[in-house]
Amino acid sequence: MRSLLPPGSDPDLTQTYAYPADLSRPWVRVNFVSSLDGAVSVDGVSSGLGSPADKAVFGVLRRLADVILVGSGTARAERYRGARTPTIGRDTPPPIAVVTGSASLETDLGLFTDTAVPTIVLTTAEAPADRRAALREAGGDVVELPDLRVPTLLGELDRRGLRRVLCEGGPGLHGDLVAAGAVDELCLTLSPLLAAGEAGRIARSAAGVEPEDMTLHSVLEEDSTLLLRYHIRHSSEHL
Ligand SMILES: NC(=O)c1ccc[n+]([C@@H]2O[C@H](COP(=O)([O-])OP(=O)(O)OC[C@H]3O[C@@H](n4cnc5c(N)ncnc54)[C@H](OP(=O)(O)O)[C@@H]3O)[C@@H](O)[C@H]2O)c1
Repeated sequence: MRSLLPPGSDPDLTQTYAYPADLSRPWVRVNFVSSLDGAVSVDGVSSGLGSPADKAVFGVLRRLADVILVGSGTARAERYRGARTPTIGRDTPPPIAVVTGSASLETDLGLFTDTAVPTIVLTTAEAPADRRAALREAGGDVVELPDLRVPTLLGELDRRGLRRVLCEGGPGLHGDLVAAGAVDELCLTLSPLLAAGEAGRIARSAAGVEPEDMTLHSVLEEDSTLLLRYHIRHSSEHL
C-alpha cells in the first residue's frame, strides 16, 4: 500500500486513522466501501466489493474505535457478529451498537451468540415487548431510548463514554447521520469495479438535506483500490 496524500510508502495505518485526542463529545467516523459506479453492495452484501487493502483498513478502524454503530439492516444482511480484536489500549473489543426501531433481530445472529462483549441494542419502548425480551434473554444490552433520533443515539454513546464512534452503515443510518449534520468523517474505499445492478448508494434519506462540504484528508492506494478519508469542514480543526 502507498500513500498518495500525503505522499509516502508503507503508511502507518494506526497513525493515518487516529481519532482526535481528548474528545469532549462523540466523534462520528463512517466507513463504507463502494464500487466506482456507486454500488454499496453486490447481491445484497458488501463482501463482493472488498479487497485486502479495504480489509486491512476496516480492521484498523475497528481497533481504534470505542464502539461500532450499525443499523439493523446491515446487521441482518451482513450476519454481524461481535468484533474480535481488542481496541488498541484495551483488553476487550469494541461493542457493536445496533439501531433498530422494530427490535426485529434474529437471536441466532453472531451478535448474540459469538461476541466477547454484549451487543448494545438501541431501541425504544415502542418496539414489541416480546422482541425486546428475547434480545435481552440472548445477552443483548437492550436500551429503550425515548426516540432514535441521532442526538439521542449519540447522547447514549456519550453517556457510556463511547466517544470514538465507528459507523459501519448502512445507507439508512448513514442518511440519518448526514441529515442530522452528525458525520465528522467519512472513510470511503473505492473498489476498482463497475457493478451496475440495483444496489443503492452509501447514504439514503428523505429529500431536502443540505449537502455538506467535505475536505480530503488522506488517500491510500493498493492494486487500484483507493482508500479516501474526508472530514466535514467544521470538524477539520480537530485533526
Ligand atoms: N458497502 C458497504 O460498506 C456497506 C456497509 C453497510 C451496509 N451495506 C449494505 O447496505 C444494505 C443495508 O442497507 P440498509 O439501509 O437497510 O441498512 P441500515 O441503515 O443498516 O438499516 C436500516 C434499518 O435500521 C433501522 N434504523 C436505522 N437507523 C434508524 C433510526 N435512526 N431510527 C430507527 N430505526 C433505524 C431500521 O430498521 P428496523 O427499525 O426495522 O430495525 C432501518 O430500516 C445491505 O445490502 C448491506 O450489505 C453496505
